[in-house]
Order: sequence, then C-alpha cells, then structure tokens
Amino acid sequence: MDKIVVEGGSRLVGDIPIGGAKNAALPLLASALLPNGPSTFKNVPLLQDVATMGKLLRQLGCEVDGKHTMVIHPPTAKKAKLEAPYELVKTMRASIVVLGPLVARYGRARVSQPGGCAIGTRPIDQHLKGLAAMGAKIHLDHGYVDVECKRLKGATIVLDMPTVTGCENLMMAAALAKGRTVIENAAREPEVEDLGLVLNKMGAKVTGAGTAIITIEGVDELQPIEHTIIPDRIEAGTFAIAAALTRGDVLLQGARAEHMDAIIAKLRAAGSTVTVEAGGVRVRGGGDILPIDITTQPHPGFPTDMQAQFMVLATQAKGQSMIREMIFENRYMHVPELSRMGADIHVDGRTAIIRGGTKLSGAAVMATDLRASASLVLAGLVASGKTEVLRVYHLDRGYETIEKKLRGVGAKVKRVKA
Ligand code: EPZ
Repeated sequence: MDKIVVEGGSRLVGDIPIGGAKNAALPLLASALLPNGPSTFKNVPLLQDVATMGKLLRQLGCEVDGKHTMVIHPPTAKKAKLEAPYELVKTMRASIVVLGPLVARYGRARVSQPGGCAIGTRPIDQHLKGLAAMGAKIHLDHGYVDVECKRLKGATIVLDMPTVTGCENLMMAAALAKGRTVIENAAREPEVEDLGLVLNKMGAKVTGAGTAIITIEGVDELQPIEHTIIPDRIEAGTFAIAAALTRGDVLLQGARAEHMDAIIAKLRAAGSTVTVEAGGVRVRGGGDILPIDITTQPHPGFPTDMQAQFMVLATQAKGQSMIREMIFENRYMHVPELSRMGADIHVDGRTAIIRGGTKLSGAAVMATDLRASASLVLAGLVASGKTEVLRVYHLDRGYETIEKKLRGVGAKVKRVKA
C-alpha cells in the first residue's frame, strides 16, 4: 500500500486547481441511466470512487468511456442487467444512487444494501420510504434490496432528515414517475442543486432543487445531455486549511465561493483572510490562528466533510475550540492519530474539545475514512519532522493527486509506492 510522506514547515504559496466535485459526479453519472442515449460529463474528477461508479455502470450494461470527460450510454431495457452486486457496493456506499434511476427507467433493481462504513451505520430507510410512497414494491433479503414498480407515481414525501443521496435517489426516481412528487425537508447541498439542473437539461420538470422543498413533475422520457461538473467545495476547503495552517497565500483556482459560505465564515473567524477573485477563492493565513466553535449541520450549515480538517487548524489556535459532529455518529477517527502527533483533544460523545497551541511532531499515522486521512496530511504540513500517512487508498477515493497539488504550492510531500 502506498503512503504519503510529508515534511513539515513549508509555507504554501501559489495556485491550486480545484477538480470536479466527487459528490456531484457520483449521482450525475448515475443519472445517465435515465435518458435513452449517451450523456457526456466534463470536469469529472479522477478518483477511485468515480472509477467504482464507472465499473458499476458497466456492470449494469452501460457503455462507459473516457476519464476527465466521460460518456455514458445506458443499455436498452432488454440489455440492462439490473443488479448492483455486494462486491462493488461494499467498496462505495454511494453506489446506492443507482437505485432510483434503475427503477424509474427499467421498472426494477436489485441493489446490495450498502451497509455501514467507518463513520457510521449509514442506513437507507429514507430512500426506501420515498420509493414505497411512489408505489414501489420493496423486498429485503440476503443483504440486498429488491425494488420493483412498473411505473412509479408521484407522491409527497417528507424526509425525516435532509439526506443527500436519499434526496438524489428520489429526484431521479420522480423524474420519470407519473404525476407530481414533492420532497419536503430536502437536502440543500450544491450537488443536489446541480442534479436538479441536469435533470431539467434532460427534459425533466424540477423546481426548488437546492431548497428544502423540491417539486418534480414526472415526464415519460428524458433526453441525453452534456454537462460540466461543479468544482469540489470540500477539496477546496481542504486546501484552504493548508493555506491557513502554514500562514500561506493560496488561490483555490475554480472554487465557487457561493458553495462555501460556512467554510469561509469559519476560516475568517479563525483569523484567515479570504477574498473572492475572478479565478477562484484566495486564502491567506493570518498571523495568529484563533479558536473556533463548530457544529456540523446539513447545508447551508457547516459541512461534516470539513470537520476533521478544521480540527487540525484548531490544534494550532491560540485558545480552546469546540467541535460538535451532529451528522455522523463515529466521525472522530482522526483524533487518536492527531493525539499521537501531540494534539490535545478530548472527545465526549459528539463533542470534541481542542486545546490549541500544541506543537505537532511528525509520526507514522493512518486513517479509516477519506476526510480523516486528509486531516493527517494537513497535520503533517505543520508538524516538526516527517509524517507518514498510511492507507493512502482512502485519500485516493476523494482527492485527485493531493500530493502533486500540494507540491505545486511548495509543500514537501511525496507519494511512496509500496
Ligand atoms: C453524503 O452522504 C455525502 N456523500 C457524504 O460525503 C456527506 O458526508 C453526507 O452526504 C452528509 O453531508 C455523497 O454525496 C456521495 P446522508 P449520504 O444520507 O448521502 C442519516 C465524503 O466524505 N440517514 O445525507 O450517505 C445518516 O445516517 C462523504 O465525501 C438516515 O438515517 O449522507 C446520517 O446520519 C462522507 N437514513 C445523516 O442521515 C437514510 O435513509 C446524513 O446522511 C439516509 C441517511
């Protein structure tokens, strides 16, 4: 297994190109199942999770070509293989977003239940509740969910919580249903908004995507489209922390500030200067790093996917910070590893208290989820000596050549092949 080796102490200065959003790409690639023809997506990030989605779509009978620009040609009903197997789904739980489009387009799907992952149990009860409300017959057995419905019908669905992929699944299902679907308490993430935009390009009638109430008038058929994927606000936020930590000056090329309001607000509260420029978002590390209090919330609240990264910044702040992780029940796996590097963090349930001003020292560390891994690389940038981040495959799931992008702005970081 490869590892990333970071030598602490560099000040980061320069431009970092921000790639397409992983969490937009995954549902969008799945949406290519809906129209009767090949759709083209540009600015697709080269990530392990995207490769997994490509493999899954091929497994379902799609022709999938290209890398940064992908063309996906869905199968005819005759050729479609309507099963997403455990071997694939277990490596990426977001595979569940093929469920809605498969049932909507082909009337049936058998998808392995994603099961939990390192950060939590990750249930799909809301996905299934919505599909059942639309008339689908649902059967669970042997760890798979079988969903069947000749033609889904519109329904009003009130989600228990604004689940991102739950909302995305139901939007795609509703696009080809008969009649009107209203999704209340919908997720408001920019990636959900981008999906609504793509469905409308296909000929769907979606209003309110990006707000808490989404209305979809079902249509009989959708047309293939071409679309450029929005930039990744979490990749951008991760590199913003690198700039803040090293008192650097970094332009996040292509980042869209309007997707990052909560992240930018907390960067400024921590003493960074953040300015919006034509080419993206510029982050300048301030003098003192100031303590911050963070509670993760559904968008537009502070994103859980940035919690681990901000925790590293808090270890360097002048004072005590508090973080409350309200979305996932087990998303503090980075804490023991940061503590081994010298951080002073106390976790009590969903709350973490971080006493700042601690000197970090490089160590061999490893993480068990994507954003925790990224936070260890960030810690290595300001730790004395060398930090080795093991199990780099977690990083490769969500960051395209992170070491290259950091080296491009002066970090001493390299990937060591196993
Ligand atoms: C999406 O996951 C993202 N993944 C996650 O990013 C992100 O952390 C998460 O949204 C929250 O913002 C993709 O978009 C591919 P949820 P998702 O359904 O959709 C509970 C990353 O690092 N819930 O919004 O799986 C669930 O347990 C990843 O890029 C139910 O109870 O998250 C959780 O507590 C990690 N029942 C909360 O809702 C359901 O049916 C939010 O989950 C669905 C969800």
